Amino acid sequence: MSDDIKGIVKEKYAQAALRVTAAAGSSCCGTASSRGECDPITSGIYGDSDMSALPDEARAASLGCGNPTALAELKPGETVLDLGSGGGIDVLLSAGRVGPTGKAYGLDMTDEMLALARENQRKAGVGNVEFLKGEIEQIPLPSNTVDVIISNCVINLSADKDRVFAEAFRVLKPGGRLAVSDVVVRGEVPAAIRRSVELWIGCVAGALEERQYRDKLAAAGFEGIDLEPTRVYRVEDARDFLTGAGLDADTIAPQVADRFMSAFVRARKPA
Ligand SMILES: C[S@@+](CC[C@H](N)C(=O)[O-])C[C@H]1O[C@@H](n2cnc3c(N)ncnc32)[C@H](O)[C@@H]1O
Repeated sequence: MSDDIKGIVKEKYAQAALRVTAAAGSSCCGTASSRGECDPITSGIYGDSDMSALPDEARAASLGCGNPTALAELKPGETVLDLGSGGGIDVLLSAGRVGPTGKAYGLDMTDEMLALARENQRKAGVGNVEFLKGEIEQIPLPSNTVDVIISNCVINLSADKDRVFAEAFRVLKPGGRLAVSDVVVRGEVPAAIRRSVELWIGCVAGALEERQYRDKLAAAGFEGIDLEPTRVYRVEDARDFLTGAGLDADTIAPQVADRFMSAFVRARKPA
């Protein structure tokens, strides 16, 4: 099951990387989305000052649902790790924030995304960056070596979220921070509706409910857990997709309203 999900996710993001490489900068919102040109999930999440510092292909490859580098309060000299770094946008932004005495790692399992990210690094001329091939369930870094873990809309794609949180905890230094953007479900939603909305958002493995998110982080050993909604999705945005899935958007609207969101999740490894 878990291997099937990984295969589907890899194929989806290999295609997304190839679309960016083939047609950089052609979408009106600057995203590599398959949901539509002006994507309600990925569009408009970065400020102009962030965007202007990046190569076109890094901007076009943005598939996140938040701006974790802006919220993570990165400091010069810190070591940052981005789980599921895609085209590298958050790694390149982090590298600027931690400066030449710091280091930004990106970790991704998809070869096409790694190739795109390394090309974006070359174009941006940034030295303090390294893109690693591997899985977020088995992070290829030693224990207690990272100051800050960021991630942008990736943990929802994992079929083994407990393992991801355990690995994040392991590689963080004591006192290290987790600062991730992810899709979160708030409250109960009937299973069929939940699955359809999640597929529209792109959560192949299913998003966590807010309480579950907090409980799993706590079970991995994290403290200071905080979850803050950054964008709440509207049923209106998903109307065509839901209708295509055989659901009546008007009827299910009350069960979807205010339940699906991107959130910024913070937690700390005890010092
Ligand atoms: C939604 S995209 C987000 C990319 C990037 N964070 C951004 O904001 O543009 C998901 C990325 O995570 C990678 N990914 C998904 N599941 C992964 C896993 N289990 N291990 C490593 N990488 C994974 C995919 O290859 C893809 O590049």
